[in-house]
Amino acid sequence: MSRMSDEQQDSEWPPPGLDLDFSKPTIARAYDALLGGKDNFAADRALAEFACEHIPGLKESAEENRKVLVRGVRYLAGEAGIDQFLDLGSGLPTVQNTHEVAQASNPEARVAYLDVDPLVLVHGRAILAENDNTTVVTGDAREPEAVLGDPDVTGLLDFERPVALMLVGMLHYLSPDIADAVVSAYRAALAPGSYLFMTSLVDTGLPAQQELARITRENVAEQAGWARTPSEIEHHFGDFALLDPGVVYTALWRPDGPVHAGNLTAGEQLGMAGMARKNG
Ligand SMILES: C[S@@+](CC[C@H](N)C(=O)[O-])C[C@H]1O[C@@H](n2cnc3c(N)ncnc32)[C@H](O)[C@@H]1O
Repeated sequence: MSRMSDEQQDSEWPPPGLDLDFSKPTIARAYDALLGGKDNFAADRALAEFACEHIPGLKESAEENRKVLVRGVRYLAGEAGIDQFLDLGSGLPTVQNTHEVAQASNPEARVAYLDVDPLVLVHGRAILAENDNTTVVTGDAREPEAVLGDPDVTGLLDFERPVALMLVGMLHYLSPDIADAVVSAYRAALAPGSYLFMTSLVDTGLPAQQELARITRENVAEQAGWARTPSEIEHHFGDFALLDPGVVYTALWRPDGPVHAGNLTAGEQLGMAGMARKNG
């Protein structure tokens, strides 16, 4: 069983003043609920709880995804010397957002956040109001031309220079019929020296992985929720040069301390991460 009952989907709190539907869960808000955030409503919490009941280690997997985001951005802004970030499917602001991690290494780093959920803009604008080097855009990552031509994005980022394009916790929302075209359009738009950083729900044959994809498709959006094999994830890096250690479970991607690859928990086996550089 992987569809919530109507009762579970009922919202207890439709706040006035915002033209948003809070009676149905969204990915951004359910993920915020998983991370213990406050920017979510009853329907989102119900979905998060429902998914946790069916998917062992889901919360931990969300936390691992945030941790690898931080490690990846720290590497990009530090060692790799990247000072421009396009964070697609950025999610609701949480602790250690991309701009905070990047600007800790380089205070001049610029970050454009984009998310399909308008609530991200509502919360993001308030938090980022004082930071001239960040912007938050409501948009659909499945439309690369619109994203790359958005005046807020082009006003902040110079695509003639290297950019880190992030699809972190996001690749699995691109359906198989469009994923190739979408990701390759982003790769093509990047200047040499740019990076692509992706994490995704993975399919290594564990039932929970496909089950999570199905729960997302059935409760949030029909086209959003796809578990990919490691080689399918790797395929989306195209001819970019994959950095060590390749596409691996997120906990194993450049961990801060020792991690036992043979001893991963259920939650640690839900997602994989990879980063690649556009040479040339
Ligand atoms: C699991 S969260 C990941 C958030 C953040 N990137 C992270 O890794 O912590 C996925 C985010 O992608 C957003 N998203 C899903 N489909 C999208 C699309 N087509 N365009 C833009 N954002 C999308 C959701 O609204 C959600 O905020």
